[in-house]
Amino acid sequence: MLTQKNLIFVGAPGAGKGTISAVMLEKYPLVHISTGDILRDEVKRGTELGQQASVLMKEGKLVPDEIVAGMVRARLAQKDCDNGFILDGFPRTINQANLLAEALKELGRPLDRVVYLQVDDEIILKRLTARQNCKKCGAIFNKIFMPSKVENVCDNCGGELFQRPDDSLETAKSRLEVFYKQTQPLLDYYTEQGKVLAITELDKDKIVAAIEKELA
Ligand code: AP5
Ligand code: MG
Repeated sequence: MLTQKNLIFVGAPGAGKGTISAVMLEKYPLVHISTGDILRDEVKRGTELGQQASVLMKEGKLVPDEIVAGMVRARLAQKDCDNGFILDGFPRTINQANLLAEALKELGRPLDRVVYLQVDDEIILKRLTARQNCKKCGAIFNKIFMPSKVENVCDNCGGELFQRPDDSLETAKSRLEVFYKQTQPLLDYYTEQGKVLAITELDKDKIVAAIEKELA
């Protein structure tokens, strides 16, 4: 059991927010709210928002704060979030953090912890440029670190694996810069509130064990 279950996962692109979220979801009834996944779904469906977001995402830039904050607020208002939630990749700016604080207050869902997955840039770039995602179920693989059993085929559902358009070396570097400029300051913001749990482990099982120990 987790006693702290209203969570934010912060980390550079490729730090493992999605991968660790997936493991946590297998074990706990948490709701996973990934702004990146929600935006990619908008892009796929060709909505107006998706068309706007697609240009920014391809360049590794952030989508406007009010848009992402509105999406997250709507999801947090749903009943299933009573069981706890992981905010994956949100907030990413101080302004987003303030909008989130307002929403959580209104919804009566206090934030418990901010899990910071800390990984060196060199490893990040290796991971991002070798990442593969399943077209059908979204499962995450890595050609170097976490290969699928059969090349380009999802272990879970047999779906086809693809590379995200923002995982080219050039865009990955831009995303990393955006992280340090716009998102890193959030760590001070939440450290002042005594909420940050920084994890420097690189092994997936050890990361999950450290989170479970601290949030028990
Ligand atoms: P988003 O989808 O959130 O991308 P990101 O933050 O750049 O993070 P990633 O999904 O790339 O990495 P991850 O930490 O989830 O790593 P993963 O588990 O996949 O956002 C995309 C875009 O949407 C943004 O650039 C922006 O434009 C927009 N956006 C999203 N949220 C926004 C917001 N709040 N405000 C404004 N704009 C927003 O792992 C990476 C790879 O490493 C995988 O291949 C995996 O297999 C491997 N791996 C993971 N963990 C390990 C491990 N422990 N050991 C070895 N390999 C590992
Ligand atoms: Mg992710």
